[in-house]
Amino acid sequence: MSSSASPEVDPARVDVAEAARWLDGRVLRTPVLRSPAIDRLAGVRVLLKAENLQRGGSYKMRGGLFAVGRLAAAGHAGVIAQSTGNHAVAVALAARRHGLAATVVLPVDAPATKVERARTAGARVVFAGTGVADRVAVARRISDETGYPIVDAYDHPDVVAGQGTASLELIEEAERAGTPLDALVLPVGGGGGVAGACLAVAGRPIEVYGVEPEGCDSLARSLAAGHPTPVSPAATIADGLRPSCVGELPFAIVRNRLRGVVRVDDESIAEAFRLLLLELKVLAEPSGAAGLAGALRLTGNAAALELNGNAAALELNGNAAVEFPGNAANRRGTAAVELNGNAAVPPGGAAGDAESEAAEAGDGARRRYTVGVVLTGGNVEADLVARLAAPHRIKEGAAA
Ligand SMILES: Cc1ncc(COP(=O)(O)O)c(C=O)c1O
Repeated sequence: MSSSASPEVDPARVDVAEAARWLDGRVLRTPVLRSPAIDRLAGVRVLLKAENLQRGGSYKMRGGLFAVGRLAAAGHAGVIAQSTGNHAVAVALAARRHGLAATVVLPVDAPATKVERARTAGARVVFAGTGVADRVAVARRISDETGYPIVDAYDHPDVVAGQGTASLELIEEAERAGTPLDALVLPVGGGGGVAGACLAVAGRPIEVYGVEPEGCDSLARSLAAGHPTPVSPAATIADGLRPSCVGELPFAIVRNRLRGVVRVDDESIAEAFRLLLLELKVLAEPSGAAGLAGALRLTGNAAALELNGNAAALELNGNAAVEFPGNAANRRGTAAVELNGNAAVPPGGAAGDAESEAAEAGDGARRRYTVGVVLTGGNVEADLVARLAAPHRIKEGAAA
């Protein structure tokens, strides 16, 4: 659901390269990380873009800053946002930087860390229900009262373009390192990030995948139905991935560009969280760790399929990746199960680790498959960190 009175559903208005130029020097160019253990587990080379280290603690800073900066330049004195948390923090920080007033509408069960960060940045925080509809109604009322525009968390061309710059940086850095991406994986809430990724890969043979928590799969359902389709979001520890519906603009962008959607459960998100913490010393929030969980699901399945030599095992698409007739990838006649297939990975998906790169470099006949993952955020409560670190306790952390 969009919180804009008239969402601008025109993909042509989303310019990731322009956003990248504008944001250059205004946001952190976050590092790209690698872990031999994660490479081994995935059976492919995995490059992780650490947006948990971004200003404001998430990649939402990119879209928020770009959108608010333009509104400031256009003479607006204030902005309104509704969000599960990270977009609110980003808009609050962006408004402060540009001297604008900010009001952010958050759910009553928003994580305290995100509420506190928005307040500390100087925003007025208003609470409204637990669902998007409640927040949208309140945001619209405040916008009508104040005359300040709403910066939607994903149904906004500048927000989508800004989020896309995280993917663009990862793509470019992978190319510079001589390990260009074959696939790019992002977690999906309203779809702004994954839509930006679909535009960022333009002209390159990179397959983009979205990741949704089980029961929060509006994008997968929307793609299957051919139009934005709401769900009643299930409980999940990934609080940022619970909008009831993918945005109209993100949907218009991804519908013919996205390779597929992977559904992940809380257990696999928690597993990815622990991997990031223990192998990379990186603190991701569950919504960010979901991207790695999805990448591991994809590569794990593909490796298993290749091991079995069973190219027809389309059950992959039932549970994990969703295929969409008519999308760009299918027109090229490829299938998700080939993720590791022709491309690069030794049979069985048992690729080596980062240390074996040198040995591989001499093998001109084979190039390792490379998957990029945007670790979208790191704003997580201390008690949830404790629960996630103790696997048997994660259920207590699920958002209702
Ligand atoms: C950390 C994190 N990752 C991913 C998302 C989903 O982003 P989008 O709404 O652009 O799909 C969010 C949304 O709040 C988030 O906070």
